[in-house]
Amino acid sequence: MKQVRGNARTVGAGGLAVTLQPLGVGLLPGGDGPADALNLASFSDSGGCPNNASELVRCMQDPLERASSQVFFASTHVPGVPPGTAIASPSTSAPDYFYHWVRDASITFARIAKIPATGGGGSGGQIASRGIADGPPRHPEIEALMAGFAHVSRGHQESPTVAGLGEPKFLVDGTPFNGPWGRPQNDGPALRALVLTRWAQYLLGHGGIPGAREYVSKELYDGALPTQSVVKRDLEYVAAAWRDASVDVWEEVRGTHFFTRLLQRAALDAGAELAESLGDSGAAAWYRVQAREIGASLAAHWSAKRGYLIATLDKVSGPPAKTSDLDVSVVLAALLAERFDPRIRAYAPWDGRVLATAVRLVGSMRGLYAINANTSAPAVVGRYPEDVYDGVGFSRGNPWPLATAALAHQAFIVARRWCRLRYLDLNQYSRSYLSELAATRIESGLPTLIATDPEFPKAVRGVIEYGVSVLKRVRQLAAADPHGDDAALSEQWDRDTGAKQGAINLTWSAVAYLDALDAYTETGLKCRSVLQSL
Ligand code: NOJ
Ligand code: NOJ
Repeated sequence: MKQVRGNARTVGAGGLAVTLQPLGVGLLPGGDGPADALNLASFSDSGGCPNNASELVRCMQDPLERASSQVFFASTHVPGVPPGTAIASPSTSAPDYFYHWVRDASITFARIAKIPATGGGGSGGQIASRGIADGPPRHPEIEALMAGFAHVSRGHQESPTVAGLGEPKFLVDGTPFNGPWGRPQNDGPALRALVLTRWAQYLLGHGGIPGAREYVSKELYDGALPTQSVVKRDLEYVAAAWRDASVDVWEEVRGTHFFTRLLQRAALDAGAELAESLGDSGAAAWYRVQAREIGASLAAHWSAKRGYLIATLDKVSGPPAKTSDLDVSVVLAALLAERFDPRIRAYAPWDGRVLATAVRLVGSMRGLYAINANTSAPAVVGRYPEDVYDGVGFSRGNPWPLATAALAHQAFIVARRWCRLRYLDLNQYSRSYLSELAATRIESGLPTLIATDPEFPKAVRGVIEYGVSVLKRVRQLAAADPHGDDAALSEQWDRDTGAKQGAINLTWSAVAYLDALDAYTETGLKCRSVLQSL
């Protein structure tokens, strides 16, 4: 394996020694650490910028991209905290978010795990270093972080918690948070399994990494029952527990959640593939059966009457005011599921039901937040219309950057899908998505719009432009914040003034913005020829 200079140390058990750079604040992008110590470009597609951290960050035109990259990097490189940990926010009081939440951390590591399993393609491909002659490109820093995440996750799984694998958050030293909390949160194991399955696939796709196969089949997926491996533990849990009521992504409602189930389905599908490739075909079949049943159960979330996907069914408890169950978590789930399963059929971000949910969500919030008035910019949105969480306590809910960035992200994924297919389905949902969010009216009365129809590029452009104006609005609010011009994203924006609200520098907000930017870049490449025909 490639030698990395410096006082490197290794993490990861089971034979795979992954070399880690010494970590510290000095290596923060823009800091004064060794300029080439961090391949930040692997995490953030920045076009023609150089492959070295400090210059790259300087080269980024968008200050919010720069600030978000810094927050993202800092959350996974906290001095004195084991690598593989990701803090939800550096904020330690009002609110105290200085924890490794399984959900937030998995979403953070999902961004790190965007590396293509077999190299080539993908946004990070061109800057990868080659560790093995003629092998696919290697990504040593990403490898170290992913090995760390697997290791930290094992520690979490094996520690005495209140809710077993459904435990939602841990202290940064890896010990469980055992105070009162909404438990279990069953989206966590599904997300963690998805990220670590990707890591296993990367390792298996790089056949030449010494000890990689042994590491995967010992640490990540051992094919044994009871299992001692991180991914299979989560998969067994998901396969057995998906029917159980659990606490939702917002840690408030106990019931059956679209967000949780869609990710559980994705985890079992991806896990089945991994199990199969490692010869555990009995488990693969079992995971597939469960995934199919989860898929069937999701149909109940669609309400034709209300015209959107209901976030929670069979509610056991939760804020009484939350009656619409119209929730951005539906869009977030679709984006995450598609990320891990590009062949996703039902409930992809372009699925009519998901489009309808986005339209209705925006409709419910346009008039709710004063900052949406008197502007030609698209509306910013929050978690759900009845929300009263203000980021510290309960007063009134606000728009959230991560929810808003998800709308842009969805728009880019939708456009990319259409460009890839070279047609789009025209139904009442795509038509209203186009007219209400993308300000694009389609004259054609046909059920499909094919690429040679002049209205096709018009639709694609409308949707991309919608996404771009959403991101511009996010940037504008970040830059205009009266309480600081460092342009990083907080958890919320005050609904009247747009000022930062709740945790300052929320990792998930940064990740959501960067993920949306990546999607923009990919869509640009995919849709170039369509747009040129305009
Ligand atoms: C209550 C909020 O509504 C919820 O979303 C949050 O996760 C917890 N408090 C913890 O801050
Ligand atoms: C509140 C959000 O509701 C929850 O989803 C998140 O995990 C925590 N904050 C930490 O960011």
